[in-house]
Amino acid sequence: MTTMQAIEKTVRKTSGSISLLDLKPPVADQTAEIIEGLTQTPRKISPKYFYDHKGSTLFDAITELEEYYLTRTEMGIMAKYAKDIADTIGQHKIIIEPGSGSAEKIRLLLPDLKPKCYVPIEISSDYMLTVAQNIREAFPELNMLCVKADYTHQLPTKRQLPEGEKVAFFPGSTIGNFTPDQAKAFLRSVKAMVDHSGGLLIGVDLKKSVPTIESAYNDKQGVTAEFNKNMLTHVNRLTGSNFEVSNWAHLAEYDHDEGCINMHLVSRQTQKVNLSNHSFEFAHNDTIHTESCYKFSLQDCERLFNGAGFSVVNYWTDVNGLFAIIYCQAR
Ligand code: AVJ
Repeated sequence: MTTMQAIEKTVRKTSGSISLLDLKPPVADQTAEIIEGLTQTPRKISPKYFYDHKGSTLFDAITELEEYYLTRTEMGIMAKYAKDIADTIGQHKIIIEPGSGSAEKIRLLLPDLKPKCYVPIEISSDYMLTVAQNIREAFPELNMLCVKADYTHQLPTKRQLPEGEKVAFFPGSTIGNFTPDQAKAFLRSVKAMVDHSGGLLIGVDLKKSVPTIESAYNDKQGVTAEFNKNMLTHVNRLTGSNFEVSNWAHLAEYDHDEGCINMHLVSRQTQKVNLSNHSFEFAHNDTIHTESCYKFSLQDCERLFNGAGFSVVNYWTDVNGLFAIIYCQAR
């Protein structure tokens, strides 16, 4: 063996591949979308407009709050049961994560899961590729296929993914941001992607005492209020609108019948807002809906997952029963 071949061999051994699959997500007309939401009754703006740079930083701060139990509890469960979770799922699978973001959670499972390939899906490929490079530093042998797509509209097909058994990873109770109908439709598209013999590892925030839930969205420091109101600054920048942020108040309350937290912005006075060639009038106490966060009992989960073609295999929860990580198998 030449020296060169020897070097290549070591390089190959310690270096997984990173590749990019661009599904060319269509560029949305954000101004039109925001106008449409504000024209509806009740008025609304999609939660995706929370996440400009400031909004992402504020969300990170939320996950550190005493009252916001979700992130820390879910990561605690993953760290504690990583081996057990990997035993249930099996090693060398294709792990696909729609909306992978900073991919902090999968890192907890990678040492035990040892996937054949990790497939993050994100709308922004720059951030996704940076995250993939960082993961590679800790897991040099891992193969990664970065998929550029808007996962709420398009998932990679079976043929676009590496061969092998597929498992979707959807942590963070992000499923709770969908309406029940949207959740079912999304999970059906996941089931089509992973196919028979595929799986779904999903994190869900469980139903619990209302004060515990409401506190998580009404923190004492007001970080969630700032996060909610920052959406208006973001919308102003995107559309040229003139929302006066100080004229709006944060509201987050639990809807018992729906089993979800609804977040709103509440108009503190009569006011008019110009957006493109539209003018929106708000009376005192008029609201704009910004987010729903559904909470689930284990029974709600069974019903939802069964309806989408999955059967629950196993689940893990914290000692206080706040949050659950559930593994389902596609039928
Ligand atoms: C990221 C959607 C899981 O619903 O708890 C946190 C977002 N909104 N505080 C949640 C959020 C307000 C969060 N998810």
